[in-house]
Amino acid sequence: MLNAGGLYLDAAMGSVPFLVLSGGAAFAGGVSSENSFASRPGAGNHDRMSRTSGGPSGWDDGGAEGPPPAAGMRLAWPLVPAGLRQAVEQRLGGPVVEAVTQPGGFSPGVAARLKTATGKRAFVKAAGPVPDPESPGIHRAEARIAAALPEGTPAPRLLGFFDQDGWVVLMFEDIEGHLPAQPWVAGELALVLQAVAELAVALTPAPIEAPAVADRFGAEFQGWRRLAGAGRRGDDNLAGLDPWARRHLADLAALETGWDAAAEGASLVHADLRADNLLLTGDRVVVVDWPWACLAGSWFDLVAMLPSVHMQGGPLPETIFSGHPVARTAHPGAVTAVLAALTGFFVRQSRQPAPPGLPTLREFQAAQGRTALAWLKIRTGWR
Ligand SMILES: Nc1ncnc2c1ncn2[C@@H]1O[C@H](COP(=O)(O)OP(=O)(O)O)[C@@H](O)[C@H]1O
Ligand SMILES: [Mg+2]
Repeated sequence: MLNAGGLYLDAAMGSVPFLVLSGGAAFAGGVSSENSFASRPGAGNHDRMSRTSGGPSGWDDGGAEGPPPAAGMRLAWPLVPAGLRQAVEQRLGGPVVEAVTQPGGFSPGVAARLKTATGKRAFVKAAGPVPDPESPGIHRAEARIAAALPEGTPAPRLLGFFDQDGWVVLMFEDIEGHLPAQPWVAGELALVLQAVAELAVALTPAPIEAPAVADRFGAEFQGWRRLAGAGRRGDDNLAGLDPWARRHLADLAALETGWDAAAEGASLVHADLRADNLLLTGDRVVVVDWPWACLAGSWFDLVAMLPSVHMQGGPLPETIFSGHPVARTAHPGAVTAVLAALTGFFVRQSRQPAPPGLPTLREFQAAQGRTALAWLKIRTGWR
């Protein structure tokens, strides 16, 4: 999402001396925004979901190219400051002999599967204050949630966590799995939707303390109000804004104001469910990357995830939502208000400058904004 394709907060630009693109080779001296998703899983051996059953719409007919990848700039393990590498090796009980940077996700830092000389494995995620000063704090939030998640939650176990020299390092149980194929294939999507239903049951009532969804996203879920304000002040000429959204901007801003009361609930939700935060291992679905977890209605996760599913070749959001068990507990008006806020977030954020170290995020948000908006048009019924 929310990081929804990213609830990363904008921050001051820093220099980025040594970074790699996901799955790519390390290079020094700068950052290329040519972000090929080298290890992007293919769908060649699967049945792609038929376009007639609702393939990606909301595209400027970029069908051949597909949606933007959920990929960012990653730091290769050998380029991590030596003191931090040693601290990890000490905790893992031996020198690292293999490090494979993982695709999927935007955090500018390390995301690598490590193997030590003694065969011990761990997934390590680490970020320092450069290029994105917000990233260490997000990792800290993830550590708090991950440490508290009860056993039995389909999430990697947190093996260790430390703060050192401004860096935050998390070590997780290594999950031998793969990201869902892109575009989505029916069998994998069915497994994931089943997992979302099971998660909603297991995490209601919330088994751990977490902030309320209104506190978590209150500052961000004001997109339509901000756009309307910026339009009025002349700070944003609203060029390129969807004509329907422009026509209904005042109504959307009003609808959005009710999102926080609408989303309130007693479930622990992940709040960033998306293909790049899901690992499939045989018939198991493991959910990774929990920094945004908060208390909300159990249907919040599905609503927040579905625009990305459609963007990535899955069925229309309403088709999935209306047939899903979590929808039974949802008030239709509440869903529409939350969807309005989510859409406003995507649309407004996508018009902002990229946060430092996350050059692909805005395009990803814009693409989710298009599918979310198409769903919102249907749910509001506004012409
Ligand atoms: N415990 C794990 N074991 C193996 N791979 C993982 C694990 N956790 C995450 N990954 C892989 O690493 C990628 C990035 O991890 P994630 O925690 O989602 O980072 P980000 O905050 O950048 O989104 C995921 O898309 C997934 O492919
Ligand atoms: Mg992620």
